[in-house]
Amino acid sequence: MLANTKDILIDAQKGKYGVAAFNVYSLETVQAAIKVAEQENQPVIIALGERYFPTVDVEGFSAMVRAMAEKASVPISLHLDHAYEKQSIIRAIRCGFSSVMFDGSAYDIEKNMRLTKEIVEIAHMAGVSVEAEIGSLAKGAFSDEEEGDGTLTDPETAKKFVEETGVDFLAAAIGTVHGMYKGEPKIDMDLLKRIRQVVDIPLVLHGGSGTPEEKIRQAIELGIGKINVNTEVSMAAVSHLQKYFKNKEIAHLSSVMEDMQLSIEPVMTKFVKLFSGK
Ligand code: 13P
Repeated sequence: MLANTKDILIDAQKGKYGVAAFNVYSLETVQAAIKVAEQENQPVIIALGERYFPTVDVEGFSAMVRAMAEKASVPISLHLDHAYEKQSIIRAIRCGFSSVMFDGSAYDIEKNMRLTKEIVEIAHMAGVSVEAEIGSLAKGAFSDEEEGDGTLTDPETAKKFVEETGVDFLAAAIGTVHGMYKGEPKIDMDLLKRIRQVVDIPLVLHGGSGTPEEKIRQAIELGIGKINVNTEVSMAAVSHLQKYFKNKEIAHLSSVMEDMQLSIEPVMTKFVKLFSGK
């Protein structure tokens, strides 16, 4: 069923499990995410990044995802990931996204707070929930996210930020990276614990790819409800396609796409199972 991201995350918080937010870029990636969610009987968040707006028919995409979600046997929501522009957020709200992320993490905290508050006011009028970020993630390997400076979230700033902005979910930077880790992951669980002590809204972990399973389990235990996954899914598809084309010189696009979807489903399943605690 088509669900609201906030409801999905409040349920996750109560049940102490995590929900995957899969970045998608095509029909096949959406189909895979919904199929895996149904197979595992878990909710899933379909996330489209603002960076794809120039090439994606956002209104058409939203209509398609929402129609597919309505038929699903589990809660599925549609989320706008990493949006920097107010216009993109308004566009997403207008065409039915249930939650949006305003990423003001590159600004100083006062400006991030002011702009986030403005977005929260607009989004809440439309019944849409808002994710924000303070601190930022560094960029690892194979990611197509923007470069970040890798600044950890300060708990007291997080508390003030949540109180002042009225934001619904907070992305906490605790040392995960966007993409695959270039060295040993340095994830600060004690920092997460301290953030959770002062912030009671659902917390979001960006940079799910490559993060050790044990760290993910601990993070969920400490209050992470939404975990974003992008790079590992993309890598599975790309490496599969490379092998595919080595073995087949001539292929029809329809079977290439079908095969690509099959190659990402096991990766999504791994994450959904892990997050659900199964
Ligand atoms: P990964 O690419 O590391 O999975 O991170 C995805 C993400 O955080 C999207 O916002």
